[in-house]
Amino acid sequence: MKMNKKIVNDFSKVLKQELIFDLAGKVAKKIPGSEIYVVGGAVRDVILGRPIKDIDILVRKVKIVDLEKFLKSYGKVDLVGKRFSVLKFLPRGGRQQLDISIPRLDFSFGTGGYKDVKVKSDPDLPIEEDLARRDFTINAMAWNVVTNELVDPYGGLKDLKLKIIRTVGSPKERFAEDYSRLLRAIRFAIQLGFKIEEKTWSAVKKHIGHINDLAESGERKVPFEIISSEFLKAFNANPVETVKIYFECGAMAKLMPEIVKMKGCAQPKKYHSEGDVLTHTLLALQNLESKTFKKYFAAPPDLSTKTAVFLHDIAKPTTKRKMEGRVVFYNHDKEGAKIARRLLDRMKMSAPPELGVDIDKIFWMIEHHLVFFYSQPNEMKKTTLEKYFFGPAGRGESLLQLFLVDALATKPEKEKLDLSRFKMAYQLWNEMKENKKEVPPKPFLNGDEVMKILKLAPGPKVGEVLESLREEQLNGRIKSKKEAEFFLKKTLTL
Ligand code: CTP
Repeated sequence: MKMNKKIVNDFSKVLKQELIFDLAGKVAKKIPGSEIYVVGGAVRDVILGRPIKDIDILVRKVKIVDLEKFLKSYGKVDLVGKRFSVLKFLPRGGRQQLDISIPRLDFSFGTGGYKDVKVKSDPDLPIEEDLARRDFTINAMAWNVVTNELVDPYGGLKDLKLKIIRTVGSPKERFAEDYSRLLRAIRFAIQLGFKIEEKTWSAVKKHIGHINDLAESGERKVPFEIISSEFLKAFNANPVETVKIYFECGAMAKLMPEIVKMKGCAQPKKYHSEGDVLTHTLLALQNLESKTFKKYFAAPPDLSTKTAVFLHDIAKPTTKRKMEGRVVFYNHDKEGAKIARRLLDRMKMSAPPELGVDIDKIFWMIEHHLVFFYSQPNEMKKTTLEKYFFGPAGRGESLLQLFLVDALATKPEKEKLDLSRFKMAYQLWNEMKENKKEVPPKPFLNGDEVMKILKLAPGPKVGEVLESLREEQLNGRIKSKKEAEFFLKKTLTL
């Protein structure tokens, strides 16, 4: 299929940049009759004008061993994928490693579905047959690097225009080849803002249970590393829609039953007129995008913060009790941190490269998400505030972000929305940041110095002294090392 000028130009730019034109020219010259294509996600992304991550190249009419020999003189060839007829190739002077393969009938994408199957590859296989076993029409196009033509036997271009995710041929067959594709359909729909075509969607709902299938060896067919990568890619792009669609197709029940319990878990109307725990959580996630959020925080929340918002009330269903006629969720912050950690560990949510979340941070945020609710921020000790605000990098800001969206999603039945505690904490955080040249400011004296001045042996007393010195410093009553020494000698001499 001949393409319009813009698309041809866009491909040329990418191919030049990645030295693929050069390579194609050399292969064509050395191995007459060979054909070189860009295939898969890169074709989709060039047409959509999205940034490209990986480039997959497909070469026809060349044996893999000959290709390997040939490529060795132009760069570094990695043989890892040779078994599956894929070579990893870094052209000399190139920036990006390319996956180069010959046409295949069966696929191993490393996603668990095809581990046991021997891959059938054949240099003479028509390109259409390779494309036929790929997941979705928008991922099943090939760009002929030499003729500048698009090979699009399954209507990928049309589906890109219609904004549709549709399997190539039978949804049942494509999913059965690799059940991680059930979550890929959702992920592409969310990332691209596309709809999943009706038959494909019905098949997702029907087959979602297979996401937990075990192989004969007892291992999961679709490993949690792949599941969490798919979930996080979608969740990062649009948290609310991802949670909703995981519910709709049954993936949430199969993968995160703890979350399903939040649906229908009623809360006292007096404080939560917005609805049950799930409704509250979705509202909190939505508020990460709100004007109010942007007013207080310049940068968007990181993925760990979004995940903490998603899980902050996870223990409400299990801690719900009636006490003296009132519904309470006593200890749901501490319990929630534990349940969240178990879920995140089980799902290997810290594993996906570049996306993996910080489980310790999420645990800490959930554990303390009520801290400014239990105490008025301006009545808290400065040393205590410092621990929350300036602990490990960025945690203080993330905790304030969670506190804000939680408050924004808590709608009292009669009274107005109450942001007073958040505003107070936010102001203190800013003041404490501004008052210090360094965040957190360095203590004027360290433990050794304190021991020397007070002639103390190592022990808990030293810690107590350091803590009171810190309190004085953070409140601005001690402004220099000299004053700190004076304070020790005069006030604390034992
Ligand atoms: N593919 C497939 N089934 C899978 C995984 C991949 O059919 N389970 C095919 C698709 O043609 C896909 C290509 O292999 O386009 C490359 O896969 P991958 O790199 O995982 O996805 P991309 O489409 O490149 O998208 P992204 O990089 O955003 O994940």
